[in-house]
Amino acid sequence: MADPSLGIPYLRTYRGAKQLIVDGKPFIILGGEVHNSSSSSLAYMEPIWPRLVSLGLNTVLLPVSWELIEPEEGRFDFHLVDGLIDGARRYGLRVIFLWFGTWKNALSTYTPVWVKTDLERFPRAQDAMGRRLNSITCFSRSGLEADSRAFRALMRHIREVDGEKHTVIMMQVENEVGILGSARDYHPLAEEYFHREVPEELMKYLEANRENLNPYLKSIWRRSGWKTSGTWSEVFGLGADEVFMAWYFARYVDSVAAAGKEEYPIPMYVNAWLGPSAYVYEEGRPGEYPSGGPVSRTLEVWRAATPHIDLVAPDIYREDFCQVCCEYDRLGNPLLIPETIRDERSASYVYYALGRHNALGFSPFGIDDIVDPEKHPLSECYRILSGMIPVIARYQGTGRMMGFTDDGSYGYSHMASMWRARARVRGFECDLGGYRLRISFTRELMERMKAILSGFQYEARIPSGGLIIAVEDDMYIAVGVNFMLRFLPRDSFSSNVEILWVDEGVYKDGEWIPDRRLNGDETGHGSYVYFDDKPKIRMVKVHSVG
Ligand code: DGJ
Repeated sequence: MADPSLGIPYLRTYRGAKQLIVDGKPFIILGGEVHNSSSSSLAYMEPIWPRLVSLGLNTVLLPVSWELIEPEEGRFDFHLVDGLIDGARRYGLRVIFLWFGTWKNALSTYTPVWVKTDLERFPRAQDAMGRRLNSITCFSRSGLEADSRAFRALMRHIREVDGEKHTVIMMQVENEVGILGSARDYHPLAEEYFHREVPEELMKYLEANRENLNPYLKSIWRRSGWKTSGTWSEVFGLGADEVFMAWYFARYVDSVAAAGKEEYPIPMYVNAWLGPSAYVYEEGRPGEYPSGGPVSRTLEVWRAATPHIDLVAPDIYREDFCQVCCEYDRLGNPLLIPETIRDERSASYVYYALGRHNALGFSPFGIDDIVDPEKHPLSECYRILSGMIPVIARYQGTGRMMGFTDDGSYGYSHMASMWRARARVRGFECDLGGYRLRISFTRELMERMKAILSGFQYEARIPSGGLIIAVEDDMYIAVGVNFMLRFLPRDSFSSNVEILWVDEGVYKDGEWIPDRRLNGDETGHGSYVYFDDKPKIRMVKVHSVG
């Protein structure tokens, strides 16, 4: 971890939650990642910058590829890196650079030509038939040395040009690593390592964390009778290929990160092409997804193997968004979502990630495709969240903040009513502050309203989502879309809870600026707080009348 006294971005632990500190203050990444090829041209980026600002981003994730910074061995060209940093500064954005080095999406497509074509020096991984894959083997020393040298040079350069200003706040090391098309590498070097003993460091980590291991890893280890030494097959049986690949990919990536951190130790992470869940049974064999990548089944292996990597981040394109977040928010691994879908759902998912998991940041992929930011709901969502960053940061790790999103995993749970409409709705209840909160997702209820009230306007583009903070036991900040919030007594069914007042407003640099006082029809005469399809922030005071 970086030394805070250096003044450069670092991660700190605050009440058990991890926070990214930039220029001395907690920073939450409201980000977006550009398409793979966009940042290879400064001219191409020029019209994109203002759109990113209109979208409300505070950070942009930009690829930097090995082939472009070291076109000839030992000759580095950082004009793109400099231009990108300059562009970000002109538009008041921070940057996370994505190091497309030895691997990008499990392939070695971003390596320079002098690497790709030298099959002797940079040998490829092989499948069981001995066929060479389009991926450098992670057992290649020369691959590791060349990649580390380039990454070291990149980090040195970033320190030189940005060590004071901190435009670059984090680095992603490689991209979605692993091996595709085979569960493991059969290159002769890999074969040799596969028949060696499992490294002691890994066995020690697993033994120390045995109770908390994910069910998949536990089950393959249990089947070997919890052996504490032996070859990969002896200890991990049928799961050996993937665990073996995970360890050696992780060691390679960790060495690259270590070389970079020697020059400039800002936080670094790896991102994952997701595999099957480690917690619920799902189809999927390693090799169909990148085997050895940081999937949830091998998160423990990655954590044990990568002391220089600050976190493992999931790229979430799956529908079970909440489940994936839970699977990566464990073992002290802070949640960061560097890639996710960029449609309307993103403007709901972000509340859950920040409110429920203290996420360091959130970033839809292909953000440059949003050509009309004003029409995309993420803009308004990011805009209102950005003023709240100091408030959200203050409540991280306190147990007084929650978040939710309707990712389709909630069932119908209760009846909700508004005016004369009643409907069975999805949602949930939870305790927060001094009260029990009932959250109703409002789609069905609003459809009923539309059916019985002529002229009633209703359109919900965004799935229900929200973030709620109990600033006091009887006072709440609620932000989000398409839900209804009611307050119930926490432990007595006989008492009645009233809403004393509801103010709508915004946060500016963490300061509350109230606007309308909501009452009457807008709160069902003091019985609920309703959020429609346009994100809003409300401050609510309640009391119990016994
Ligand atoms: C995941 C990769 O990490 C990204 O670079 C990009 O290729 C997306 N997939 C494409 O959807």
